[in-house]
Amino acid sequence: MKVIILENYDEVSREAARIIARQVLRKPASVLGLATGSTPEGTYANLARMCDEGLISFQEVVSYNLDEYVGLKPEHEQSYSYFMKQKLFDHIDIRPENTHLLSGIAEDVQRECDAYEMAIDRSGGIDLQLLGIGGNGHIAFNEPSDAFAPSTHRVKLDERTCADNARFFDRVEDVPSHALSMGIGSIMRARSILLLATGKNKAEAIRNTVQGPVTPQVPASVLQLHPDVTLLIDAEAASLLLAQTEAESNA
Ligand code: GLP
Repeated sequence: MKVIILENYDEVSREAARIIARQVLRKPASVLGLATGSTPEGTYANLARMCDEGLISFQEVVSYNLDEYVGLKPEHEQSYSYFMKQKLFDHIDIRPENTHLLSGIAEDVQRECDAYEMAIDRSGGIDLQLLGIGGNGHIAFNEPSDAFAPSTHRVKLDERTCADNARFFDRVEDVPSHALSMGIGSIMRARSILLLATGKNKAEAIRNTVQGPVTPQVPASVLQLHPDVTLLIDAEAASLLLAQTEAESNA
């Protein structure tokens, strides 16, 4: 696990965009795993600018998003489908038919999840998976639990996740209670992984991810086992990590 600590959100966003751009330049038909949440917004803005300046093209890129709220139509302003169009897809030259998101309104949930896994396989697997992290250490919507989910599935969202995400909705009661999410297994099958985290409220999750035991109670800790993971974090998200390292080196 490579941990890169940068000064602030803007630096993390710029470096993340550079890493994704390098992937796309090396392999124009890359399969990208994409994330939502406020963290990757800056990265997407940088990618849109690079695309606009003619530095990179997404014409051959295929994308798969991590998750979607159950019950929200793609046109709903808080759906991840809407988010991706607003923040990235409408600003780059990716082909709409090459972008994939789980449907939050699928009637047959199991079928939707199985079809998603098969589609990723048919595309040749994910080359680079972008991740954020929840304050409780969740990745995608894999909440702390007793076991790592092997594949795409339906999840009940944690109280903390609903509270964290309530800022995007009028009332906390409006946050959907369930989501469809790629599993830990789906994420671990990606050839490389880039996790972004900024701000103090991610510091504990980052410390547990990097320095804690590998446990489904901290879903992101599983990344310790992946052969090609980069964590791009700012000084605040790294603050507890550094505290522990300093304490260790003073011991
Ligand atoms: C949601 C998403 C995650 C994301 C997390 C953190 O729960 N499902 O993929 O990592 O939010 O969001 P933020 O970046 O806004 O802190």
